[in-house]
Amino acid sequence: MNYFEYRNGELYCEDVSVREIAKNVGTPLYIYSYRTFERHFQVFDGAFAGIDHLVCYSCKANANSALLRTINKLGGGADIVSGGELYKALRAGIPHCNIVFSGVGKTEEELRSAIKADILMINVESEGELAVLARLARSMRKKVPVSIRVNPEIDAKTHPYITTGLKKNKFGVLWNEARRLYRRIAEDKYLVPAGISSHIGSQILELGPFIEAVGSLKSMIRELQSEGIGLSLIDIGGGLGITYKDELPPNPEEYAQVIRKELGNTGLRLILEPGRVVVGNSGIFVTELLYVKNVPDKTFYIVDGGMNDLVRPSLYNAYHEIRPVKESNGIGKKVDLVGPICESGDFFAKDRDLPELMPGELLAIYGAGAYGYSMSSNYNARARAPEVLVKDKEFFVVRKRETFKDLVKGEYTPPFLEV
Ligand code: LLP
Repeated sequence: MNYFEYRNGELYCEDVSVREIAKNVGTPLYIYSYRTFERHFQVFDGAFAGIDHLVCYSCKANANSALLRTINKLGGGADIVSGGELYKALRAGIPHCNIVFSGVGKTEEELRSAIKADILMINVESEGELAVLARLARSMRKKVPVSIRVNPEIDAKTHPYITTGLKKNKFGVLWNEARRLYRRIAEDKYLVPAGISSHIGSQILELGPFIEAVGSLKSMIRELQSEGIGLSLIDIGGGLGITYKDELPPNPEEYAQVIRKELGNTGLRLILEPGRVVVGNSGIFVTELLYVKNVPDKTFYIVDGGMNDLVRPSLYNAYHEIRPVKESNGIGKKVDLVGPICESGDFFAKDRDLPELMPGELLAIYGAGAYGYSMSSNYNARARAPEVLVKDKEFFVVRKRETFKDLVKGEYTPPFLEV
């Protein structure tokens, strides 16, 4: 459920016309619905009512500060994967004790800032990382809560680029090695065995892989307990899928129910790291049709947004629903919706049925809240799109459109090139 709907033939986000926003802010642009975002978070969080848990929103999906502040307001924490996300989460007011840090390639500097910030726990992904963490903890004389992100060797049955729980993936630590690492943590004066974590992939549409993952984490916890290593947190990552087209993902209630059942009463606090399910359908990307170009056997709708703004279709061949901002019941035609970037891979849709449109008309690309802006770039020296947050009757530009000046910010001209 979301708050994007047609009213009298015009697309609205909550009580604001999308066309009105585009007129004010220009295109291309991202529009987020506050009510949708809030609702998705609350439904997810609420589904786990009654069990000790913390929802750590996965910042990588969309780290706009306005959204992070919303998460904080709603009592959520943050799942971070970089020093930059740590900075943003703390700056948005998310308490340090509600932040978990994952990632296979944390630098010393990132680990140091996480230790300094006293975050809830650091999810370690290799023996090398654990060694660095131990050295830093000792030198900083700080007790550091650690978890091992284990790789439970489970097929999440999702796109190969976003599956993470298989032996061949770079993520996590296989159980045999993890067991050894826990012993090492337990022996270390500065490292505290705090939790165990796993994240098996993203856009997962079945409950089976989650049940399996929780099952293996539980048996690992039991094994550790038998060795006298007691943990207090179980972090099951994110990954719950959403509807982009006609997928029927489990809803948060169903997800929570099976997790609850599989978890039993371990007495451990449950950590969840949802990203997409909270923010994915809270956002649209709006782009203007520039040209209709006919070539033999094909029509291209060329729009002003490109793969630099929203890369999911190009990168994963991902499907995003596309609708004209002015509702149309006209007869459709098959078109390729493409951007201005100098790559044939720059497309939003191929052979898609879209109504006959004229240049100047606006299109909304749905499901753009997650991994949309956060994966955008300046490719082709394109200024990044603005982000707008709508709440009820008002809209707020929560990130300005970049300017050409922003494109050269930080660049330096060596003296021999000065004219
Ligand atoms: N926790 C960890 C450790 C993760 O690596 C991820 C996502 C999440 C949580 C959040 O997963 P979610 O609930 O959003 O599925 N760019 C890709 C998705 C990459 C996901 C990476 N990790 C896409 O656009 O589909």
